[in-house]
Amino acid sequence: MNVINNIRQLRSWSTINKGTRCVFVPTMGALHEGHAALVHAAREIAGPNGNVAVSLFVNPLQFGPGEDFAKYPRTLVEDLALCRDNGADMIFAPKAEELYPADRSIVLHETSLSLALCGVSRPGHFDGVCTVVAKLFNLIQCDDAVFGKKDYQQFAIIRRLVRDLDFNVVLHAIDTVREADGLAMSSRNRYLNPEERAQAPALRAALVAARDSWKNGERDPAALQTLISKHIQQHAPLGRIDYVSAVDATTLQPVSSTTELVVIAVAVFFGAARLIDNIELK
Ligand code: PAF
Repeated sequence: MNVINNIRQLRSWSTINKGTRCVFVPTMGALHEGHAALVHAAREIAGPNGNVAVSLFVNPLQFGPGEDFAKYPRTLVEDLALCRDNGADMIFAPKAEELYPADRSIVLHETSLSLALCGVSRPGHFDGVCTVVAKLFNLIQCDDAVFGKKDYQQFAIIRRLVRDLDFNVVLHAIDTVREADGLAMSSRNRYLNPEERAQAPALRAALVAARDSWKNGERDPAALQTLISKHIQQHAPLGRIDYVSAVDATTLQPVSSTTELVVIAVAVFFGAARLIDNIELK
């Protein structure tokens, strides 16, 4: 497994591997079993002759003032071991100075899908994500890229990025990996204290209850949202709900009569952690 820290070496890696299918997993490190599933899926897509590339980069551009950029966990040694164990061929782990010149003056700006859900309480976040993902796609020259469905809005926005800016990259979304009690795996779960950790599975339980209600015929988005909020308030009193939203899975707009697939997304603060999860109604 090659570990590369700078753009010059990355370009020569890309040149040497030209013609070999490259499947890319962008991450911010602090890897867990959810990331292992992404790397594993990338390995399957790449096949025995392809390359699996993983980036480990805590992207300063996607953190707002007062967010957890400084304390975001950095666990490089463990991350490299997880990547190796799951069949990665190349790791790109640059320093921020390597990717962002001090006088940089161009960023991407997404103007529609990022106005809802997490974009409301994290202004600028998805512009930072789009900018770094576009840079990484250009640098790694991947054929495919693999993302997790836990970050549902992020995936919808990257799909738009690829379409609108004509990236020649096939995207793959992988199901969320969960703890035994249903909590979606996240690097931020380690911010939870034991009481918060005990209550956090209520997010998943609330979403499943809403899906059950939908399966039993409930079609009113407001009723489903209320059911979820009440469940979380009752079972996770330490949580502070940021949003509960039933939206169209592609446009992320409030559900309408033309909506084909509905996703319900939630974000809840627990102390220092802001947890997100979602469920597709099907
Ligand atoms: O999902 C993440 O970990 C990040 O948002 C990403 C896609 C690696 C961009 O920094």
